[in-house]
Amino acid sequence: MSLDLRPLVARDLAWFVVLRNEVRDALHDPRSFTHSDACAWFGRGRTRYWVIERSGIRVGYFRFACAQTLAGGAWIGADVAPQFHRQGIALAAYPRFMELMESHLRVSSWWLEVLSTNAPALSLYARLGFLEVERHDLAGRQCSSIVMRAPRRGGPPLLVPE
Ligand SMILES: CC(C)(COP(=O)(O)OP(=O)(O)OC[C@H]1O[C@@H](n2cnc3c(N)ncnc32)[C@H](O)[C@@H]1OP(=O)(O)O)[C@@H](O)C(=O)NCCC(=O)NCCS
Repeated sequence: MSLDLRPLVARDLAWFVVLRNEVRDALHDPRSFTHSDACAWFGRGRTRYWVIERSGIRVGYFRFACAQTLAGGAWIGADVAPQFHRQGIALAAYPRFMELMESHLRVSSWWLEVLSTNAPALSLYARLGFLEVERHDLAGRQCSSIVMRAPRRGGPPLLVPE
């Protein structure tokens, strides 16, 4: 599958906010946002976003942040637009994106957090080699949050404390 990865830029925000709102029930923060919310938020905070394109069409995005409390660890997540679900996009894009980040940054391990009710994502993460580390309750929600970890994909582990 021919996928391209590139940083999200301001002209992507209208598309981004529509997609995020479409999948919000699968996310830890289920709030809906407007385009102006996204413009006010864009570029702030530690999380960076990358667009996934297939044949020049935007099909999803990654979120990425170096973890401050996990030496060399990085948080990752992705949302794919519903009309492109179950076409192998996430399964193909995750290894590509992880290897791209590893080639630029000192990522020693990958971490993510997923709702216990999100069966599609849990199945995907198992196929990508993520293992459950812990789970905790979420205030006001009927499900828990599962923290998962996978080793870096390329080469031997970096020599940083875990
Ligand atoms: C989870 C998500 C990213 C998967 O993206 P995708 O591109 O549709 O996934 P893929 O087509 O690459 O599927 C890869 C594997 O994931 C699992 N999977 C994906 N969708 C699934 C579904 N609806 N039911 C069960 N398993 C599913 C399967 O193991 C699948 O492999 P298979 O098709 O060979 O059985 C996508 O469903 C999504 O964006 N959901 C809404 C937002 C979300 O949950 N984000 C993650 C928050 S932690």
